[in-house]
Amino acid sequence: MTIEQIKTGFDNFSYIIYCQKTNKAAIVDPGYDAAKLLSYISSNNLNLEYLIATHYHSDHTNGIKKIKSSNPSTKIVASELDGAKLGVKVDKTVLDEDQLELGEINLKFILTPGHTSGGICIIVDNEALLTGDTLFIGDCGRTDLPEGSLSQMFETLQEKIISLPDNLIVYPGHDYGDKPFDTLGNQKLTNKTLLAKNLDDFSRIP
Ligand SMILES: [Fe+2]
Repeated sequence: MTIEQIKTGFDNFSYIIYCQKTNKAAIVDPGYDAAKLLSYISSNNLNLEYLIATHYHSDHTNGIKKIKSSNPSTKIVASELDGAKLGVKVDKTVLDEDQLELGEINLKFILTPGHTSGGICIIVDNEALLTGDTLFIGDCGRTDLPEGSLSQMFETLQEKIISLPDNLIVYPGHDYGDKPFDTLGNQKLTNKTLLAKNLDDFSRIP
């Protein structure tokens, strides 16, 4: 299993996940630089099975139409709520704890509302956690945008994220931290948003 973290736009991360045995690949959050992502796919002879949006914001989804039009058999994957706002037809709607196979790779989706109502995170083979704008290195996603909810975000972090295994590598949707990725175990010890004990503390984090 390979996860390629690709910086796109100003500080966005897109991801290409692929199975070395079958060459099946998925692109996660193609916000910008669709051509760069497509060139990675073709130069590595990958077959693009899935195009996954962690949430509907344009800086994570701008490239979907272009990539789908050059790879028409690729299935667009999103949650029901955020998928409805993509402006393109979603081929596979995922519910909490749904799983997909990508060659020999297992993708497990968890619904993580807070930044948007239908945001998702993706667990890849019990090794990696792609967090979109739910969790960044050292911080969490904004809750002050339309559909954002401070209390939902706190609940998501406490009930969905903290319970996951420490060994997962957190791959965020933006390069906002002091490093581009980190173990979830280290984030549990250092990320102020995961250290907040209650909603009141959480709401006071600058
Ligand atoms: Fe976002």
